[in-house]
Amino acid sequence: MTADEEADREQVELGQVQETLFIPLVGRAVETGKRRPVLRDPKAVEIIEAVGFDRAKYNRAGGWTTVFRTAGFDAWVRDFLGEDPAGTVVELGTGLNTRFERVDNGSVHWIDLDLPDTITLRRRFFADTNRRRMVAASVTDDGWAAVVREMPGPYFFVADGVLPYLTEEDATRVLAGIATQFPGALIAFDTYSQQMLEREHRLAARRGIARWQWACDDPRSLERLGMRVVDSATVTRPPRAVRAALPGSRRLLLAAMDPVMGRSMQLTLFRAATSQPRISQ
Ligand SMILES: C[S@@+](CC[C@H](N)C(=O)[O-])C[C@H]1O[C@@H](n2cnc3c(N)ncnc32)[C@H](O)[C@@H]1O
Repeated sequence: MTADEEADREQVELGQVQETLFIPLVGRAVETGKRRPVLRDPKAVEIIEAVGFDRAKYNRAGGWTTVFRTAGFDAWVRDFLGEDPAGTVVELGTGLNTRFERVDNGSVHWIDLDLPDTITLRRRFFADTNRRRMVAASVTDDGWAAVVREMPGPYFFVADGVLPYLTEEDATRVLAGIATQFPGALIAFDTYSQQMLEREHRLAARRGIARWQWACDDPRSLERLGMRVVDSATVTRPPRAVRAALPGSRRLLLAAMDPVMGRSMQLTLFRAATSQPRISQ
């Protein structure tokens, strides 16, 4: 891409944390061009062509790990929709994700929540419908739960690459709030080891990207917030549906990386308790 072509694109103005949405967006666009992709996202390709952003910063930041993470959450959302085809998926910190486009079954209800400037950008490429709504709010705000309740249950909350940007206090308060207000809901999110957080801080310093604030070595410890683990995966051991779709060469690559990366990124699916104990954060 030439400098002139880049200058023709409307430059995006986002906060530093919000800008991280380009990391998985670029990852999904690159994956879409592969011969046997883990997921396809033609919309990501279209958006990347249309918007001007700091490509030097974001083109190589996340790579395949964000793609496997997203594909893992897609698999869990599809399982949920297999059981409850007209339930509601709440995408917290949605960025420019296109999970709805990938899993829509014609009856699911959907909320895409993110900070106001991200939602303004998102509205350039996505529209509300009678089953799908964008909400401009911080995940730490109290007001959005009432909007979720306007959609039919059961509920599946997914925060894909979002909670590490919150402080531990905020992340645990958000999770405890969901668990208390939506008994029985499914909640899926990714967590990173302390070692991985330190690695991210070095990358963030080199590239000038936002720093994570929250590491969690043991997602099971979050059961104290009023939810229990129902499934878990790692980036090198993705959910079965993702693994089954992989060509042998990528399966071998994941197996080779497992001893080094295995525990650095964990995906965990929780179910909120139906009767809530007293919660200690
Ligand atoms: C790494 S991006 C992930 C985007 C999207 N989930 C995906 O996988 O493509 C992090 C996202 O979290 C959002 N985010 C960060 N802090 C947030 C907050 N307090 N409330 C809502 N969204 C937040 C950012 O705006 C950004 O869109």
